[in-house]
Amino acid sequence: MEVHAVETPAAVMAPLCAKTGRQVIGLLQACASISAFHARLTLGSADHLQFADNSFDKVYSINCIYFWPAPARGLSELYRVVKRGGLVAITVRDKERPPYDAFRPEKLTNSLIEAGFSSVAINRNDVPSHPLICAVGTT
Ligand SMILES: C[S@@+](CC[C@H](N)C(=O)[O-])C[C@H]1O[C@@H](n2cnc3c(N)ncnc32)[C@H](O)[C@@H]1O
Repeated sequence: MEVHAVETPAAVMAPLCAKTGRQVIGLLQACASISAFHARLTLGSADHLQFADNSFDKVYSINCIYFWPAPARGLSELYRVVKRGGLVAITVRDKERPPYDAFRPEKLTNSLIEAGFSSVAINRNDVPSHPLICAVGTT
C-alpha cells in the first residue's frame, strides 16, 4: 500500500514509515526531493499532481487547503489519484475567522462531493486550544 501525504513534515513521515513499513510519498510545496527511510518527497502543487490516476490508497492534507490556488481543482486531483474505495482526509482549523472560515464543515462536505467523493464524514478533535476539523472523503 502507498500513502500519499500533501505537505507532510519529515517528523510525521518518518515514524509513519517505520510503523507501517510501507512506502510513503509526500508532496512538498517548497522542498527538493529527498530520500530518507522509505519516504519519497516530491515538489508540486495540490492542483496539479504529477501522479497517475488511482495511484494511492489514502491521501491526507493538514492545514494546507487555504493556501491552494484552486481548492476545487485540488480536491479533484486528490480524487483522481486515489483508488476507488480509498480515503482522502482534509484537516483544517475549526475557527470562524479568515482564512479558516472558508472551509467550514458544510463547505468541505459539499466541495468533496462536488469533486466526486461518494461520502464524507466530518470529525472534530474537541481540543479547545487547537480545534481541528477533519473531513474524510471516500472515493
Ligand atoms: C500552515 S502550513 C501547514 C504545514 C503542515 N501540514 C502542518 O500542519 O504543519 C501550510 C502549507 O501549505 C503549503 N502549500 C501552499 N500552497 C500549496 C499548494 N499549492 N499545494 C500544496 N501545498 C501548498 C505550504 O507549503 C505550507 O507548508
